[in-house]
Amino acid sequence: MTHETVPLYGGKLSRRVTIRDLRTAKERGERWPMLTSYDMYTAEIFDAAGIPVLLVGDSAGNNVYAHADTVPVTVEELVPLARAVVRSTSRALVVCDLPFGSYQLGPEQALATSIRIMKETGAQAVKLEGGLPVVESVHRIVEAGVPVMAHIGFTPQSVNALGGYRVQGRGTDGDRLVEAALALEEAGAFAVVLEMVTAEVAAEVTKRLHIPTVGIGAGPDVDAQVLVWQDMAGMREDRMPRFVKQYGDVRGALLTATRAFADDVVSGTFPAEEHTYH
Ligand code: KIV
Repeated sequence: MTHETVPLYGGKLSRRVTIRDLRTAKERGERWPMLTSYDMYTAEIFDAAGIPVLLVGDSAGNNVYAHADTVPVTVEELVPLARAVVRSTSRALVVCDLPFGSYQLGPEQALATSIRIMKETGAQAVKLEGGLPVVESVHRIVEAGVPVMAHIGFTPQSVNALGGYRVQGRGTDGDRLVEAALALEEAGAFAVVLEMVTAEVAAEVTKRLHIPTVGIGAGPDVDAQVLVWQDMAGMREDRMPRFVKQYGDVRGALLTATRAFADDVVSGTFPAEEHTYH
């Protein structure tokens, strides 16, 4: 059977994007966008827009569940979100995060959680955070047939150990990140997220790896860029990290619509005759 080769973004594809498509896109030097999604409507919209990879991130912690960070998120909380995203898409490759505490005990726990997520959500891949300490787990999961996206640099699940939201890879730390990325590729990861990493280190990692790098605060010289959708679309009103660019004002649009509805109710103009049954 032949494998259709079309651009990841903007190309027509009658099936889901696969990890093989991502690999060949890297060989073609093609850049691609990735977004988080946690629900039916955003998943359907992003899929219609042609976003090739959607992440059901544990950033649901501070974007859905109103926690301060991702640390409290559980597998039980992510599973229904991922299931909804999978059901609402037909083209995007859906990746589901392994939340904090669901893989740190070692390869056996990491594999058990990955299998559970794949079976219960229908996602096509999992993502986990960490460098050399998780290499064996990545190997074990991949060997069992589950594609793994790695995540190094600033790893939000370790925010307490890292002492806050800090850029990674400065000075000799850059060598540590390159070494970790190479080891994760060797272990079988199909892509590596680089979060809040200097542009120079991200460019070096991207040059050295055969699998795609996905940057978030990692500068322009990576294969793909990911943003949390609420940051990208302007859903939040608090201060954004430097790496975010807002492409919309969804918060403003929703506030305007909400106030217009409320005003109509208070003034008695809604419902009008056309909204009324007789
Ligand atoms: O959970 C998440 O949204 C992430 C992305 C920021 C890469 O890990």
